[in-house]
Amino acid sequence: MSNSGFRASLAEDFERFKRELPRDFASHVREAYHIDLTAEYLGRPLPHPIGKGSGQLSLNGGQLETDAQAGLAFAVLKTVIAQDAVGDQSMGAWAIHESKMKVERRAAGWTVTWKGRGWDRSFHDYLALVRAGRDLTRAGALLAIPSVKYHLPHLDEPFRDSEYAFTTRALADAWAETPLLLEKDFSPTLAGDHLSDEKAQILRWLREVPQQIRAHADVRLAMKLMNARFDDDFQLEMMDAASSADALVVFNRLFDSAQGVAYGGPELSDRNLRVLARLTPGASPGIPELSGTGNIHSGRMIVEYAARGCSSVQLHTFFQLPLEEYPATHGSRTQRALHVLIFEPHDGLIAVMLEREKTGALERRGGELHFLDLLPHAYRPR
Ligand SMILES: Cc1cc2nc3c(=O)[nH]c(=O)nc-3n(C[C@H](O)[C@H](O)[C@H](O)COP(=O)(O)O)c2cc1C
Repeated sequence: MSNSGFRASLAEDFERFKRELPRDFASHVREAYHIDLTAEYLGRPLPHPIGKGSGQLSLNGGQLETDAQAGLAFAVLKTVIAQDAVGDQSMGAWAIHESKMKVERRAAGWTVTWKGRGWDRSFHDYLALVRAGRDLTRAGALLAIPSVKYHLPHLDEPFRDSEYAFTTRALADAWAETPLLLEKDFSPTLAGDHLSDEKAQILRWLREVPQQIRAHADVRLAMKLMNARFDDDFQLEMMDAASSADALVVFNRLFDSAQGVAYGGPELSDRNLRVLARLTPGASPGIPELSGTGNIHSGRMIVEYAARGCSSVQLHTFFQLPLEEYPATHGSRTQRALHVLIFEPHDGLIAVMLEREKTGALERRGGELHFLDLLPHAYRPR
């Protein structure tokens, strides 16, 4: 079939799938469009690049089941605050209930106003969620990844190893398979914390946290970097300092210090894409695998992140919009979001990959277009 033939089928599929998105839509895309959406997160192959970022949308087993049924590629569990064997939490200020959360328009996009808190139930309950996620992961239904906020010391202080030890071992036991896949959250709220005012302090955290965690278990580690309150150069310095992680999630939300809240929307993706575009792939000994996050609301935006090195993406706000904002008429929010992200005939992922084929920016290999070919060469998984 020709490029224009594929476009005609796309308009039909978009209409048809408004009522029901097939769970294995990635196979359908491969058969019908000869497009291979295979992506990667933390070294694991994914059927397509779209996952859910850590937050209020992955707090219980029911949400994970719904997401697995919708065909989401992965979900990062809500961030838990690390603790030691007696339950002390140095970052305990974050382990409180989020009372105010509002989805609203910001500039030409959406943001969820959020103070940025962590898991507010017991660590024991979190381990039960990790086991539920592990079972779905083993069944090949959806990759579920725990997320932790561990102690971050002042420059002249040591890391509280007791928290790193207890929390990492407990998660590894619950995961019961090696390696444990884990995200370390550096949190947008840190941008509002006086501790984050020190550049040297932040760089030390990024350099030393991987070894702090890995001392206690076989962990494949993603570090979710915040947008610090410094310039773009510093974002690049942060990436460099964090290069011993296995993956970097780039970059968590901006911080509005006047209102004391973290926010997203177009300002977030503008900044993230601007910083990522400045990386020089292959120049330094290695930028780890990248997972994009921030104001992703279309396949076109997924391609923007992929073209700057991201082999997967993590969305939150787009999975939280009022139902009437999605063109699909049936299905869970996750299904409706995936439907528009993949199949929308102008800005969906398939449409934009076909558009790139037409302009010669993306070529078929073995008769197929490949999502991972959107990445610059030096970032492609081997
Ligand atoms: C309500 C809410 C809660 C969130 N909670 C967490 C969290 O616990 N840990 C974390 O690493 N990121 C958290 N995030 C950040 C999201 O995972 C995501 O990276 C960020 O919002 C940018 O993506 P988006 O523009 O698609 O929302 C949260 C975001 C929102 C809106």
